[in-house]
Amino acid sequence: MSRTPAWQGVVASFGDRMSIEGKDRPVTLLEGATPLIPAHRLVEALGGGFELHLKYEGLNPTGSFKDRGMTAALTEAVSWGRQAVICASTGNTAASAAAYAARAGIKCMVLIPEGKIALGKLAGALAYGAQVIAVRGSFDDALDMVREAEKLLPVALVNSINPARIEGQKTAAFEIVDALGEAPDWLCLPVGNAGNITSYWRGFKEDYRIARTSKLPRLLGVQAAGAAPIVTGQRVHHPETMATAIRIGNPARWQDANEALIESLGSILAVSDEEILDAYRLVVRTEGVFCEPSSAAGIAGLRKLLREGGVSVRGKTVVAVLTGHGLKDPNAALGQAVEPKVIEADVAALMEVVEA
Ligand code: F0G
Repeated sequence: MSRTPAWQGVVASFGDRMSIEGKDRPVTLLEGATPLIPAHRLVEALGGGFELHLKYEGLNPTGSFKDRGMTAALTEAVSWGRQAVICASTGNTAASAAAYAARAGIKCMVLIPEGKIALGKLAGALAYGAQVIAVRGSFDDALDMVREAEKLLPVALVNSINPARIEGQKTAAFEIVDALGEAPDWLCLPVGNAGNITSYWRGFKEDYRIARTSKLPRLLGVQAAGAAPIVTGQRVHHPETMATAIRIGNPARWQDANEALIESLGSILAVSDEEILDAYRLVVRTEGVFCEPSSAAGIAGLRKLLREGGVSVRGKTVVAVLTGHGLKDPNAALGQAVEPKVIEADVAALMEVVEA
């Protein structure tokens, strides 16, 4: 009886299409191969008339899409003999870098904006043994600092300015085309430092060139209104949003994102924190797919596009990327919920409170 070979992770599976060094000895936690979940109930809630699939990147080993890029970045750093990595992060990159550095047996240093990262991300980075440094400033300040520090220390910088990160993250586009048989009409995703939108566009374009599928997707990038430099064309000096993962005012991949948006005939929108939280509740409750609030920004943007109706999504196939797992941000989840009722341990008490 023949068996499907076991999944070996992103580098082993797509390495022939990835331009990184050290591919023969990947540093991997078997990331990737995340599900593409059809979302019929969510489509109905959004008014119906199109097809929607959720690329659930929260199911990567550290709970976010960052693991695809981090396997590539750490594989390369280790092949170059690096003994330490450094990054700035709103949380997910930190947890991912920390995990892959642990896996490789090297050091990891992460700089985070003080008080502005979700609990599960901080817990992850600390648990994996990274040196975590909180900066009195924004993500953008921390990124400037690690860029300088890279010149002074024998470390590899693993933010998405590192080309290997993009090479790893583009593999999500390959998986989507493999699952659907072709690219979707639209791909919507939250945008912060703009590495992910850059990666998806590279992946879809490369796949198109090789496989000659019938189309390329249009990209819908979504930023939080208080941190929307690409939408306004202006650097934001004091970005503010409850969607802390995308609280970024000066994206490192800004130029690449603009090119991707232009080439794909895409669109970039800003959504309010309220719209992000509405979308968060909607996707989690209608589909049972738990993402973090920032991840739901893509859905909030799609909803806005549908409402405004300028660009037709009706009859089209849409993929929304859910970038991080809901457990990353337990405080956001609890803030949206009613506290559990406490009752005596008997059935009569249960009958009094039961919501049939
Ligand atoms: N969604 C989540 C959950 C993120 O953590 C991030 C970025 C994004 C979306 C945006 O992706 O930066 O490639 O445009 N998080 C980074 C971090 C900045 O440090 O974890 P992007």
